Amino acid sequence: KCPPTVFSGIQPTGIPHIGNYLGAIKNWVHMQNTHQRVLFCIVDLHSVTLPQNPNALRQSIFDTAACLLACGIDPDKAILFQQSDVPQHSELCWAFTCLTTLPRIQSLPQWKEKSEKYAKDINVGLMTYPILQAADILLYKGTEVPVGEDQIPHVELAQDLARIFNYRFGEFFPKASAVIPKSARIKSLRTPTSKMSKSEIDVKSRIDLTDSPEVIRGKIKKAVTDFTPEIFYDPDNRPGISNLMDIHAAFTGLSSDEITEQNKLKNTVGYKSEVADIVTQYLTPIREKVLRLREQPEYVQQILDRGAERAGDIAQENWMQIRKLMGF
Ligand code: ADP
Ligand code: NA
Repeated sequence: KCPPTVFSGIQPTGIPHIGNYLGAIKNWVHMQNTHQRVLFCIVDLHSVTLPQNPNALRQSIFDTAACLLACGIDPDKAILFQQSDVPQHSELCWAFTCLTTLPRIQSLPQWKEKSEKYAKDINVGLMTYPILQAADILLYKGTEVPVGEDQIPHVELAQDLARIFNYRFGEFFPKASAVIPKSARIKSLRTPTSKMSKSEIDVKSRIDLTDSPEVIRGKIKKAVTDFTPEIFYDPDNRPGISNLMDIHAAFTGLSSDEITEQNKLKNTVGYKSEVADIVTQYLTPIREKVLRLREQPEYVQQILDRGAERAGDIAQENWMQIRKLMGF
């Protein structure tokens, strides 16, 4: 009874990188054409779970919107908006917080990782943000959630909360399913055993969508590899070179066998130069579009304002029904 609805989000914690693009945004651009109701959200409330500089956050919200538009998100096909413009995200989050047990939230892999990393300095938001993510999706009765595979446990929490709510208050929320891209998860260029992320301090660990050809070339040249000069795919024993091959494969559609075959006469230095060419060629039109959008900030703001209105209409209607079911 709930129509197919696509929902996904990205944190405005900097400029989106090729991991975000290949793991999420590329799929978003595809799904805006295959689905009627599609929402993409710049999740600023999530980005304040770590200390933020207000001016940097403002800039990141703009840059994230500009990058999404430059990658091909079409505001006539998808509702593109800023999370904090729609207050019902926080309201539904509170209702869900009261339906979530402490052990359930403590069992999430990201909590285990973060609570070890930040120890006693950790804030409560870093524990409960997956509940906000569930609210983000279910506020729009989202059924399809195109995300990287690191997000699967969080989509499962949204499924649990929908089930718990429906059992206690009556059938309302649909089942949200993660839609995971076939391409491999992109790893950090500096520590190729962990994922490429905006939150890694070393900027040489990631390729931003706005990096110039020279910067891209420099970062790939410095990418951590090993002392074996040959090019072959072995993610367990050769994570660095295999990550470059994953990036190559994702941007070209070639398989790792085809890439190995094509590059068997090259050494690591020559192969890195080849990957830099491919990435540069793909990103150049995206980068140019972002630079143009930076010249027209009012245009980008208009798109976000219209997105907030359209998202807000759906959110308000659903939230009124949720309140009625819960008795307030
Ligand atoms: P980040 O971890 O860089 O801050 P976000 O949390 O904003 O990224 O995630 C936005 C989307 O990008 C999510 O769907 C996430 O799964 C995806 N994503 C993030 N990093 C990667 C990566 N290295 N490889 C593939 N997908 C990724
Ligand atoms: Na993140």
